[in-house]
Amino acid sequence: PEVSTPTSAAAVSQYACQRRTTTENHNKNLTDAFEVLAENYEFNGMEGQCLAFRRAASVLKSLSWEVRSSERVHELPCLGETMEELILQYGRSFEVNKILSDERYQTLKLFTSVFGVGLKTAEKWYRRGLRTFPDVLEEPSIHLNRMQQSGFLHYGDISRAVSKAEAQALGSIIDEAVHAITPDGTLTLTGGFRRGKDFGHDVDFIVTTPERGQEERLLTSIIQHLKQQGILLFSDYQSSSFDMSKLPSHRFEAMDHFAKCFLILRLEGREVEGGLCRAEGDSRDWRAVRVDLVSPPPDRFAFTLLGWTGSRFERDLRRFARLERRMLLDNHALFDKTKKEFLAATTEKDIFAHLGLEYIEPWQRNA
Ligand code: CTP
Ligand code: MN
Ligand code: MN
Ligand code: MN
Repeated sequence: PEVSTPTSAAAVSQYACQRRTTTENHNKNLTDAFEVLAENYEFNGMEGQCLAFRRAASVLKSLSWEVRSSERVHELPCLGETMEELILQYGRSFEVNKILSDERYQTLKLFTSVFGVGLKTAEKWYRRGLRTFPDVLEEPSIHLNRMQQSGFLHYGDISRAVSKAEAQALGSIIDEAVHAITPDGTLTLTGGFRRGKDFGHDVDFIVTTPERGQEERLLTSIIQHLKQQGILLFSDYQSSSFDMSKLPSHRFEAMDHFAKCFLILRLEGREVEGGLCRAEGDSRDWRAVRVDLVSPPPDRFAFTLLGWTGSRFERDLRRFARLERRMLLDNHALFDKTKKEFLAATTEKDIFAHLGLEYIEPWQRNA
């Protein structure tokens, strides 16, 4: 399969896992506009259209050239006629501006930006006539769960981008915790920062221990360690429900079953080279940051790493496996439906090889 950055539109694959997509986006105006449209479809329960626009944006992100007219566009995969028209009208078209100024869109966007608030909750609040954070916080009949309470409490900090330097500082802190617990434990950076992004909404890590069956204990010990250091502001721990005998999930966006936790940590300014990312006028010497940790059994590491590195790339890997290879892939395993057997992997390269795909580096997976 053709995966080198093609100059010909016809050579672009419909699967993100057969495209190289760096963080350099030559079509940002268009992809931002498409994301607004996709999000609005999502808010209105139109999942098919939402997915279509996200796939189209992902194709545009992979191009080494800026799309200006529709002449080469009609050869690109995943771009239908409506989208071609939108491209002709270019970027922040009338339709996009209409959505951006729509009250329902604005409110759902605001509410879902709170840690712990999903679309269902946001819609419920909107239907009750609530429009602002004070509306929600002053409504006596609303019960916020623990995650949402922390989400509101640390809203300013955690809605602020996390820098690479901050991610690095958090890496050192958690690495120290891992090694205080078990000298042969490992910490691996994953998520957006592994894809080479300069900023993220959180920092994602995989923690492992070579001793089988000890991965849950490792995670709970890390949480305990962070608490003793006085830097644990919030923790939602989910124990493992991983079942080795189960087939990989058919669903694209299924959560994995490994032990994991969603944290908010207190990061001190002195720990960060070049200082913290703070709001103007904020003189505190610390900020709150979102951190995710996942702890798979050692032989599941490669699948977890590939899955948690994320983006549309990972979704399309699963789709490619299913539709082109009759295989089931998720964050836990790869199953060959023809041979009726699980395929082992110790590295990401093994998984690409099983799928008959050219290896693509993490920084080329920003699909
Ligand atoms: N993930 C998951 N289950 C969760 C949360 C995250 O499986 N409950 C995995 C997914 O595989 C996802 C990856 O973690 O693709 C990264 O998710 P996220 O942190 O939301 O996205 P990033 O790509 O890291 O983007 P950002 O830089 O904004 O954090
Ligand atoms: Mn370029
Ligand atoms: Mn992330
Ligand atoms: Mn995350």
